[in-house]
Amino acid sequence: MNSILRIGRIELRVMDLELSAEYYRNVIGLEEMARDNERVYLKAWDEYDHHSIILKKADAPGMDHMAFKVKGPYELEVLERKVEQFGCKTWRISHGSRIAEGEAIRFEIPTGHEVELYSDIEFVGTGTGFTNPDPWPDNLRGIAPHRLDHALLTGNDIETVTRFFTEVLGFRQTEKIITVDGEQMLGSFLAITNTAHDLAFVKGPDNKFHHAGFHVDNWYEVLKAADILSKNKINIEVTPTRHGITRGQTVYFFDPSGNRNEAFASGYITYADFPTITWTEDQIGTGIFYHRRELVESFSKALT
Ligand SMILES: [Fe+2]
Repeated sequence: MNSILRIGRIELRVMDLELSAEYYRNVIGLEEMARDNERVYLKAWDEYDHHSIILKKADAPGMDHMAFKVKGPYELEVLERKVEQFGCKTWRISHGSRIAEGEAIRFEIPTGHEVELYSDIEFVGTGTGFTNPDPWPDNLRGIAPHRLDHALLTGNDIETVTRFFTEVLGFRQTEKIITVDGEQMLGSFLAITNTAHDLAFVKGPDNKFHHAGFHVDNWYEVLKAADILSKNKINIEVTPTRHGITRGQTVYFFDPSGNRNEAFASGYITYADFPTITWTEDQIGTGIFYHRRELVESFSKALT
């Protein structure tokens, strides 16, 4: 079955490493795990591996790469061949290139983003452990999401990138946005697990980052996330509402470099036999923001 287990990490480019680290620690509520001169490594409290967010010092914001965790080295090699057969050049990131990580394979997907697959990363566990655990650890700060949940990226050729993730990497398309005449795909929501999406693409410029979504428990936690953002004078783009697509509950905001973040709750689960849900372009406002039924202007324009 699927060789890919889940989303593993996102490396974000940030302009002020210290300010960004403080934001991801205190406002998002991630735990700082390690750092060197150019990078800070963080994880959410409910994640077992060493890190899921890497902040990398850079001149401009955006996503350096995102990575998916694969079952083991054998599966990694099989996928490496499949990626190359599709026509994407791959290269190896050697063990120890970044803290706590083993070898990874890296490649450019049809939208120009760089993606890695890996199986080896240091296991550190959580504060609650996995024997008779409490439901949550003490001393949580900020929004304190359970985990990194998904990413939304933009690109020009949504059909081809969808074909890459479904045919090569084994993702399923849970939802799509199409033009009213059905000729063109404008959005694609893809899952490798049974969540509504682990990764999504919307039509736009190639190699741009739209947002990283962090999972919180429920609607109240989305509201509380907005309280925490306001308390910290963070720029909130979209106050708490519901998505038509995924049915998730959401609040959108920006990190100090302008990379968009989301606190995301609920959303349905999917099974392999479910059909792909279709949204037509004329209903895109309702699909994205179910209550206001229209897009916020910055939502399609602010990309990093
Ligand atoms: Fe999202």
